[in-house]
Amino acid sequence: MITMTGKLMSRGQRLGCVLALSVLALFLRGVPWARALDNGLAMTPTMGWLHWERFMCNIDCKEEPDSCVSEQLFMQMADLMVSDGWKDAGYQYICIDDCWMASTRDSNGNLQADPMRFPGGIRRLANYVHSKGLKLGIYADVGNKTCAGYPGSFGYYDIDAKTFADWGVDLLKFDGCYCDSLEHLADGYKQMSLALNRTSRSIVYSCEWPLYMWPFRKPNYTEIRQYCNHWRNFGDIFDSWQSVKSILDWSSSNQDTIVDVAGPGGWNDPDMLVIGNYGLSWDQQVTQMALWAIMAAPLLMSNDLRHISPQAKVLLQNKYVIAINQDPLGKQGYRLRKEDNFEVWERPLSSLAWAVAIRNLLEIGGPRSHTISVVFLGRSVACNPACLITQLLPVKKELGLFEWTSTLKTRINPTGTVLLQIKKPS
Ligand code: GAL
Repeated sequence: MITMTGKLMSRGQRLGCVLALSVLALFLRGVPWARALDNGLAMTPTMGWLHWERFMCNIDCKEEPDSCVSEQLFMQMADLMVSDGWKDAGYQYICIDDCWMASTRDSNGNLQADPMRFPGGIRRLANYVHSKGLKLGIYADVGNKTCAGYPGSFGYYDIDAKTFADWGVDLLKFDGCYCDSLEHLADGYKQMSLALNRTSRSIVYSCEWPLYMWPFRKPNYTEIRQYCNHWRNFGDIFDSWQSVKSILDWSSSNQDTIVDVAGPGGWNDPDMLVIGNYGLSWDQQVTQMALWAIMAAPLLMSNDLRHISPQAKVLLQNKYVIAINQDPLGKQGYRLRKEDNFEVWERPLSSLAWAVAIRNLLEIGGPRSHTISVVFLGRSVACNPACLITQLLPVKKELGLFEWTSTLKTRINPTGTVLLQIKKPS
């Protein structure tokens, strides 16, 4: 390498220079340029349970009393959150999605829960959830109707925010269906954010603002972050590998736009965890858990906690993976490289540690080996001069000490992921 003054650098000087530039690059990436919604909430990604993907708009409590959207469903989930270790693992919010409402507002213009399915109303449900040490989430829509056709909040932002606060709600998922213009969409999302703040109750604000903007124009994420605690960018998750894959593809293709804006108080939301349902193989469930940790995604499970396999439960409650998701530095990870049907993703963590996920994209054949020089990981600083690597998924394994000149070899199942944690030796 030739310096500005034309002198050749020694190997040591070169390394020093590379290191200094890497540290500078890391620092510059870490500059918090986008102010977060100032409500003190979601300093780490929200963790909880949300009914939509698994239970959808099932309102037939006569035929299907155990899987209809009713207070009983949420009370049972709250009980299990506590008794089955979910709360201890960090899952805190029990969230109601669409289809909780009666088909009209009451005579005073207030939203009301369906009286048959929620005989005690939302306030009693909130009290119940709070008595378990958990928090309650609810759903509404910025437009004239919710996506399933229930009353929308357009023109009622202050009234509805006050209703939710009076009931003791702790999170609002605010959808974007039936909104007639981009102006109303942006204005509505902002107005509801301000209305929630005015109630002076702490209510996490979960938006779908960018998802509804993308078809028309590129969202202004700096602005969205000032109003929302998390925001959906992409279409609804389904219980299928195709769906999980498409979310990962979208997230990596758009990482230059979405990664840097995420941080304490405001997160990209790639939608619910569908682990423990019907559609994903074991390796695909591992991939979802690992990548949602790398992406600093809200961990909102949509499954049936009454019927979940021990294996899915262990994965969802994995404390090491959850610790990566909840890392206090709050920096979202990104795809580092894609080649030979492998993807390498990485995420900077606190204490100069890194998380690395290596995916085998092939959907044919058996496990494949992947080899990488550790010097390429963690912006060339993670393993310089050496690092300790622990494999966290699919099973926990200490891989030992790696010098910066060494290579790391992993074997990964088709559609699966190996999740690693890289630390500085103490
Ligand atoms: C969709 C939203 C889903 C779910 C559904 C309810 O637009 O993205 O997550 O909330 O509406 O109708």
